[in-house]
Amino acid sequence: MENTHITNSSTGTSAIELSGIRKTFTLSEDKNAQQVLALDGIDLSINQGEFLTIIGPSGCGKTTLLRIMASLILPDEGRVIVEGEAVSEPDIKRAMVFQTFGLFPWKTVLDNVVFPLIVRKYPAQQTREIAIQHIKQVGLEKFQNAYPHQLSGGMQQRVGLARALSTGADILLMDEPFGAIDAQTRELMQEELMRICQEEQKTVVFITHDLNEAVMLADRVLLMSRGPGQVREIISVNLPRPRTEYDVRAHQEFVRVRGHLWRELRNDLIEQRTEEMV
Ligand SMILES: Nc1ncnc2c1ncn2[C@@H]1O[C@H](COP(=O)(O)OP(=O)(O)O)[C@@H](O)[C@H]1O
Ligand SMILES: [Mg+2]
Repeated sequence: MENTHITNSSTGTSAIELSGIRKTFTLSEDKNAQQVLALDGIDLSINQGEFLTIIGPSGCGKTTLLRIMASLILPDEGRVIVEGEAVSEPDIKRAMVFQTFGLFPWKTVLDNVVFPLIVRKYPAQQTREIAIQHIKQVGLEKFQNAYPHQLSGGMQQRVGLARALSTGADILLMDEPFGAIDAQTRELMQEELMRICQEEQKTVVFITHDLNEAVMLADRVLLMSRGPGQVREIISVNLPRPRTEYDVRAHQEFVRVRGHLWRELRNDLIEQRTEEMV
């Protein structure tokens, strides 16, 4: 074979690579309409198997960035490379999980999980098996015939997670997925997500506005600066895994990273308030 550049996961192809991402929204059809610069030159490389959390003030462009990573929207400028290939449309390597769960209320748990597999034209007998396997993985085997309204918020988000996992996506793109779940259930969901992602070597990009959650889950935390959205800082979290086996919050690394992020975010919020007042 020619001695060309050979890249694969073991030689370090990124799961997602963003370069020079810019995105502007226009607020109406009017040609004098106001423009909002949502992302202003994002460069970012996410490793395979990495857990990256994103934190930043409301409106700083987190959701826009995640939707661009999913190719649900296209940037005005810049490139999105997934596992070495430029992309411009959604594909099965990437699955989104939303805060509002995104379940069909008229479908059972099983049918909700089966749905994306049918859309992707998996063979019919396989879809059921795959769906049931992932419903078990998130601990909902007894509820496969229940409807979403019969489940708690935490259980509904487990269905959302099972659905994302069942597509076989290597990359999970999660937009404040536990934001609507009570605090204790949320901790259980965090543990479960960490376990599943470690077992299956998923790459995860996870938006949260909860500092503890951002540090607890992450290999690295991306801190965005408030609009126009830019990468302010990326911080590595050097906490051993599995993190369920000790009190992470008491670890000095947790306290260090959390303290640092809090000071940065606090400054941003104070500046924002001051500008709003003048
Ligand atoms: N579809 C859209 N149309 C117009 N403006 C938008 C749209 N989506 C987002 N924006 C604007 O872009 C900025 C970033 O939004 P978003 O990515 O939702 O931020 P975050 O998720 O960090 O709160 C905000 O000013 C928001 O109002
Ligand atoms: Mg958002």
